Amino acid sequence: MVSYIAAELAPQKNNGQIRLYGEDGFEGMRKACQLTAQCLDALAPMVVPGVTTDAIDKFVFEFGRDHGALPATMNYRGYTKSSCTSINHVVCHGIPNDKPLRDGDIVNIDVTLVVDGWHGDSSRMYPVGQIKRAAERLLEVTHESMMRGIAAVKPGARTGAIGEAIQTYAEAERCSVVRDFCGHGLGRLFHDAPNILHYGRANEGPEMRPGMIFTIEPMINLGKPHVKVLADGWTAVTRDRSLSAQYEHTVGVTETGCEIFTLSPGGLDRPGLPG
Ligand code: MF3
Ligand code: CO
Ligand code: CO
Repeated sequence: MVSYIAAELAPQKNNGQIRLYGEDGFEGMRKACQLTAQCLDALAPMVVPGVTTDAIDKFVFEFGRDHGALPATMNYRGYTKSSCTSINHVVCHGIPNDKPLRDGDIVNIDVTLVVDGWHGDSSRMYPVGQIKRAAERLLEVTHESMMRGIAAVKPGARTGAIGEAIQTYAEAERCSVVRDFCGHGLGRLFHDAPNILHYGRANEGPEMRPGMIFTIEPMINLGKPHVKVLADGWTAVTRDRSLSAQYEHTVGVTETGCEIFTLSPGGLDRPGLPG
């Protein structure tokens, strides 16, 4: 049975109840999410051939530090970096390292900055130099999948409506939806109830209510949906080594639909625009 609870009354752990935040929570999330989005904007010019993902990760750490924020991923379940950097066939949770990015790569950079205890979680795809037309199309399909999922958010509908919108569109574009990872509630916690599946049917999942806050973060593959996790315990890759992409926004359910907290202040949300 799903149950809902006023966020300020809930215990500070994920016990499966869905927290409903008030105006204070929304205000806290706006701040954290805008800082994360600003960080993703600031990164754009640095994602060029030759730069290492460690250098990107260092930038994220210092950006947070300079703005009074900490990266949520640091020391999270044994993870030690400030970001995830997932290149080409890496689906998610790629670990920054000292290898330079190469012309034609596509890389997802996923950042969660914590401001005053609030978690702003967002990721975008960055082309490295000149990318192939197939890669460009995957970025467009993945971003549009996320936006169609977001458009399905409104009180009274079930969370399955988000998954249905994403899956229907992505599969019509001859792409596949990764099943092994999902969006999540967040706020004062990084990963909280409910899980937001990126596939499924509109009559599934808990009903959305005003005050709910969660991420929508579809991972879309050019090939089959299946993934495996490498021996490092984090890096998830496509089993068929096909290209994979992901975008992530944090949203809050309002009386009429939702507010996207992590919109780019510089207008850099969409793939293929200046950056
Ligand atoms: N930011 C990721 C998400 O979207 C979570 C990364 S957890 C880590 O939920 F430990 F891998 F960093
Ligand atoms: Co997330
Ligand atoms: Co994230």
